[in-house]
Amino acid sequence: MKNKSLVSIEDYGKEGILKILELAEYFEKNPNQKILEGKVIASLFFEPSTRTRLSFESAIHKLGGSIVGFTDASSSSVSKGESLKDTIKTVSKYSDLIVMRHPLEGSAKFASEVSEVPIINAGDGANQHPTQTLLDMYSIKKTQGKLDDLNVFLVGDLKYGRTVHSLLMALSNFNPVFNFISHPKLQIPTEYKLFLDNLGIKYYEHTEFTDIISKADIIYMTRVQRERFSDPMEYEKTKNIYVLKNEMLENTKDNLRILHPLPRVNEINEDVDENPKAYYFTQALNGVFTRQAIIASTLGLI
Ligand code: CP
Repeated sequence: MKNKSLVSIEDYGKEGILKILELAEYFEKNPNQKILEGKVIASLFFEPSTRTRLSFESAIHKLGGSIVGFTDASSSSVSKGESLKDTIKTVSKYSDLIVMRHPLEGSAKFASEVSEVPIINAGDGANQHPTQTLLDMYSIKKTQGKLDDLNVFLVGDLKYGRTVHSLLMALSNFNPVFNFISHPKLQIPTEYKLFLDNLGIKYYEHTEFTDIISKADIIYMTRVQRERFSDPMEYEKTKNIYVLKNEMLENTKDNLRILHPLPRVNEINEDVDENPKAYYFTQALNGVFTRQAIIASTLGLI
């Protein structure tokens, strides 16, 4: 995967995903490997972020690399009207790798086509969030001891939630059964259902949390993505519908783990946080090891 951009999780395939998970395990055990000495990583965040940006920065520091970039496009020459193309062409002269988050779907692919260095997609609009998916896969493997044959519930904003889209694609390599729980206006888009149909993967759609969650191995909660709604009233109608509470976990499987890409708004009650089945903060930690693995692999340093 050396010098290959990570735009979509499909760029890696099953073997690529497994290789990253293996490397992430190595970095969890050996975090401070100074393999990035002399390398400069650009971090271009055109949208807000806490976990993705800071876990990438933590990963780069642990690997001995340097970071340039911006956390707010208004502090860059984009605010003067510079195009994404010119921004990427310029920044790729200053860096060995670019990590980019951008609100437009397809922006990461476009950037990869004009950049002289690999692009890592840190989220492009409602499309994909492949590095989140790799840390989600790492979290699933760690908690379940396997990736195959799991019953995975995806809950919340399945329309705009980019983490859901790339996770669904990655898990599809491992014979899952999916249960989708969402408001009818936030259902998983048809293109993803066709993707599953073509692979013969079973999925069931629900509009309510029912006792069917007693069969779940993974419940992946998501926030309703307010920033993607063109009509604020639609957001008001669809927010706060699915709220996971501790009492709902009473009759669930022992191996069940609750995941959430975070940030959380109201969709998981804080009383769940102390439940041993809650895994979302450790999941966020796994982002450091996984992103160390992605950077090292992309630059061919390990
Ligand atoms: N999961 C995730 O992408 O979080 P941030 O928006 O805080 O980076």
